[in-house]
Amino acid sequence: MTAEFTPVNKTRSWSRLQAHRAAGLVNLREHAGDRQRAKALSIRTPHLFYDYSRQLATRETVRLLIDLAKERDLKGQIQAMFSGKRINVTEDRAVLHTALRNLSGPHARPEVLEVLEKIMGFTQEVFSGKRLGVTGKKLMNIVVVAIGGSYLGPNFLAEACESFTGRTLRFIANVDGTDFARQTDGLDPAETLFIIASKTFTTAETMKNALTCKRWMQDKLGNSSEVISKHFVAVSTARDKVEDFGINPDNMFVFWDWVGGRFSATSAVGMLPLSLYLGHDVAREILEGAHWMDEHFRTAPFEQNLCVIPALIDIWNINFLGLKIRALLPYCQALVELARHTQQVEMESNGKRVDLLGREVDFDTGEVVFGEPGTNSQHSFFQPIHQGTLIIPCDLIGFLMPLHNVGRGNIQEVTHHEELMSNLFAQANALAFGKDDPLPHKRFPGNRPSSTLLLEKLTPFTAGMLLAWTEHRAAVKGFVWGIDSFDQFGVELGKVLAVKIRQELLHHYQDPSYLPKTGVPSTDLMLKALVSGQLPE
Ligand code: F6P
Repeated sequence: MTAEFTPVNKTRSWSRLQAHRAAGLVNLREHAGDRQRAKALSIRTPHLFYDYSRQLATRETVRLLIDLAKERDLKGQIQAMFSGKRINVTEDRAVLHTALRNLSGPHARPEVLEVLEKIMGFTQEVFSGKRLGVTGKKLMNIVVVAIGGSYLGPNFLAEACESFTGRTLRFIANVDGTDFARQTDGLDPAETLFIIASKTFTTAETMKNALTCKRWMQDKLGNSSEVISKHFVAVSTARDKVEDFGINPDNMFVFWDWVGGRFSATSAVGMLPLSLYLGHDVAREILEGAHWMDEHFRTAPFEQNLCVIPALIDIWNINFLGLKIRALLPYCQALVELARHTQQVEMESNGKRVDLLGREVDFDTGEVVFGEPGTNSQHSFFQPIHQGTLIIPCDLIGFLMPLHNVGRGNIQEVTHHEELMSNLFAQANALAFGKDDPLPHKRFPGNRPSSTLLLEKLTPFTAGMLLAWTEHRAAVKGFVWGIDSFDQFGVELGKVLAVKIRQELLHHYQDPSYLPKTGVPSTDLMLKALVSGQLPE
């Protein structure tokens, strides 16, 4: 798609979708008992069931969306990604996070296997006590210092999987000192291993936090080089910068420029901390699950493709129904971090206003994704989802089996899981079919779209599937829209401007009579307030 190509909204299939939309919308109430629709608008695979029969779409909509995908050569673009073509054209990089979990067969990459072996060896040394802290104590606390993609994916996976190793895993992401203070609170430094995870090893927040962690350890355990060599390891692509920080390359776990930050959870960025937290074999199950989804994405026909169909439905909602906000609602407490991870994957990937050729687009790209586990979300933001003026498509995720089967005190009582799932099924129907009432404020209009993803049980394997599902769903949209879903130039300007302000603050610190200035009056007013500790009068 780097040669001249037609903007997606000028294609024939796009016009057909517009005409289809103009012909009217489905009324879900009329289909409440329609078995054929339930069957046609669902996907069944060995591990998952995906029901999108409550979307404002028909079989014809899906047929037209698939035509659009074909006209955009979606198949060819997926193949190009898997084969390592440099599809991240603005950064001239391949996009090969799928290679991180393709561990057997002719396409397995030796460098990927080598790093995994190193992670396994390191984990064994920590677990067996061969590798101890500087005072001879076992390393029981793993603290990851990272932000953005180096934090959100691993954090989602860590929350999703249960650890039986007795180790704790914490993340320090925010440069707000509160994050450092809270995450190190109560930790015995002699039992603590810091993992500094940064693709570039220049990210200001991570470097600041890493330095503070280094000083904290040196204050507590002394200034010897052993404190660093025994308590600090790095995950990065930038060997020289890791060395400059004082970490020996032997204690470094590499990955490669063909792994984008927000797609790096299955590289050493996620695998090292998860291996130490869960045990190496368990962490590898995450890779197996992600690989299962990769293969499904690569090979399943579009009609039955769990990554393609949800992405096409998103396009239908965003571009043809104008629904640009999506709620992600796992009915599973262990998926508490899924929405935050998905936010980065979707919004950093697809929040773009120019296409691959740099042309300004005149259609919507990207969407706002937010979410919270059900049932908590029902008691928070479901009011507008049911009755507000904004229509917010919902993704409901549920499991057949709970992680913890508790709560049946007697035969008349449902378990926690049955209670939880009753809510999921009820919400999907309340949204779709609504309720009439003579009193307008008690009326539920219905026809509010949702999909339900049902899995057997949350395990490291299924958590890996969900990770890859999230990645590929975002990529499909970018492929269809013709944008670069793998760059993130939009985060740069703020970083550059912060450099100048930081220097001004430093100047003031060195010379208190100097008042920091940026040339922007309102900023200068607030900077003056910051250094004086007094709000502007
Ligand atoms: O927020 C911008 C970003 O570049 C993300 O894409 C990335 O995941 C994050 O910063 C962290 O970058 P790094 O791993 O290089 O520290």
